[in-house]
Amino acid sequence: MESPSLPMTAKDWTTTSLHRVLCMQGGEGDVSYVNNSDCQALAITLSKPILISSLQSIKLFFSSSDDDHTSPIIRIADLGCATGSNTFSTVDTVVETLSRRYTAVYGGRLPEFEAFFCDLPSNDFNMLFRLLTEKQKAESSMYFAGGVAGSFYDRLFPRGTIHVAVSLSALHWLSQIPEKVLEKGSKTWNKGKTWIEGAKKEVIDAFAEQSDKDLDDFLKCRKEEMVEGGVLFVLMGGRPSGSSSQFGDQDTRAKHPFTTTMEQAWQDLIDEGLIDEETRDGFNIPAYMRSPEEVAAGINRIGGFKIEKMEYLKIIEHSEEKKEEWKKDPVSYGRARTNLVQAAIRPMVEAYLGPDLCEELFKRYENRVSTTPEFLHITCFYGVVVFSAIRI
Ligand SMILES: C[S@@+](CC[C@H](N)C(=O)[O-])C[C@H]1O[C@@H](n2cnc3c(N)ncnc32)[C@H](O)[C@@H]1O
Repeated sequence: MESPSLPMTAKDWTTTSLHRVLCMQGGEGDVSYVNNSDCQALAITLSKPILISSLQSIKLFFSSSDDDHTSPIIRIADLGCATGSNTFSTVDTVVETLSRRYTAVYGGRLPEFEAFFCDLPSNDFNMLFRLLTEKQKAESSMYFAGGVAGSFYDRLFPRGTIHVAVSLSALHWLSQIPEKVLEKGSKTWNKGKTWIEGAKKEVIDAFAEQSDKDLDDFLKCRKEEMVEGGVLFVLMGGRPSGSSSQFGDQDTRAKHPFTTTMEQAWQDLIDEGLIDEETRDGFNIPAYMRSPEEVAAGINRIGGFKIEKMEYLKIIEHSEEKKEEWKKDPVSYGRARTNLVQAAIRPMVEAYLGPDLCEELFKRYENRVSTTPEFLHITCFYGVVVFSAIRI
């Protein structure tokens, strides 16, 4: 069967167009990112002590020229903020921690805080600012806020203006699918797959190369934008030291939403004649889980930052109670799992396949998860690399 004409070819997914489709699912529905980001929230909670400790070493910015009428402004940027409460909780932590430090050193004299929420233009900024307005009304605002639409692989701010930059669960998203993995017939062609887990070495190398380039671009931009003494705090999907797989353990590898079941769901569409192989092969998920060594190497290559702390953390995906509940109702489990994966990749898949085939793909995925009860007996982890660094 000939494939229906697709709304967007994978070749369109260069740096100039991926930013239009790479976003988390907006709104507040069942598949929205807001309702499917518990794991990312837990990652933030667990890494908070690293953020707080790095803020203890930030230089306090008050100059002799600051008088009563001109308080200094502390500028905070959240890079890859999406739409949920995770972004607010981190900015709150920064503002509260620095306010306490300023109070301890300068008495009642506080700087003013300005927070920039940054994401790709495809992000649901309307939702973000609606939630923020509700929150600020309820809590009496502690900072001024603005939105910045653009890629964190580009410059987003004037030189030397940002005091604290955070990026949470975002930097594992690459700026593009490495073109090499889409080149038909080449050694680097990711034939038969839609991601790199379990792919051949040449494909993994192509993703690693793209990942290094992207990390360098990210760091070069932050190096320009941040003030000396400022803090860069990053938490990204990652893998443990020494792991050649994208994950540190077999169970996570089997159960992760981008791996086996997703590949099978694509194969179902082919087997049922809904798409051809070429269509499947033209799609790749632009994500890469870096190891702490790869991150440290990037920081050393670009310079301008001193690493304060770097850790690999494993976040457990679901509570045991939730698992027990789902064991009695595998259909609900299938739905919950499908909502989770849709929250992360539905906008991209829909841009590529169109709404009808996208719906069919996620139906196949849900069906496969609901009928794989063994998944409820193994544990999948969200692995993250977290680091804090001072701009020197
Ligand atoms: C998984 S969400 C994380 C959201 C939030 N920081 C949290 O911890 O819940 C990743 C976010 O990164 C954004 N993102 C991915 N690539 C980006 C880029 N190149 N520039 C800016 N934002 C990007 C996505 O649009 C998405 O909103």
